[in-house]
Amino acid sequence: MKITNLIFILACFFLISCGGSTNKKEVKSVTKIELTSENLEKGAQLYRAKCMNCHMKNGKGVEKFYPPLASSDYLEKHLTDAIYMVKYGSNKPIKVNGIKYNSLMPSSGLTDTELVFVFNYVLNSWGNQYGSISLEQVQSVQR
Ligand code: HEC
Repeated sequence: MKITNLIFILACFFLISCGGSTNKKEVKSVTKIELTSENLEKGAQLYRAKCMNCHMKNGKGVEKFYPPLASSDYLEKHLTDAIYMVKYGSNKPIKVNGIKYNSLMPSSGLTDTELVFVFNYVLNSWGNQYGSISLEQVQSVQR
């Protein structure tokens, strides 16, 4: 009888410690923003509120005034610069798909987390398949 008791206690201990470690993992995964349809929808909402006026619903922008985000070679090749521009605003001359742009994009005023949502939406919309970004990536972009 004693041995069965011991096994029972050990089994309880094992279950409790396993339960403990799964909880820890869940807390960690909060900072990781996955590419779920729910998170992409959050990005879409931010896009409609903060970006669509200039970059248009279809992401094609307005030639020579507002550069496209759909199939943008700039977005694909200069992602860190693109994050900087949306975070802090930009009016330096840039070339997107061979066309020059030099108008003003005001700072978005979005939080770093919101920037992750909106970028992950832009990087995966209108046929774009440019991957995704993390919160750490946005936080590391500083003036
Ligand atoms: C007032 C109009 C306006 C708004 C609103 C705006 N942009 Fe822009 N965006 C521009 C302009 C103009 C440029 C080019 C800036 C330059 O020449 O320095 C640009 C450039 C960019 C670029 C880099 C070039 C490219 O086409 O890949 C990205 C990425 C971008 N914008 C994303 C966004 C996102 C995301 C939002 C919303 C949070 C946003 N923009 C809101 C006007 C705007």
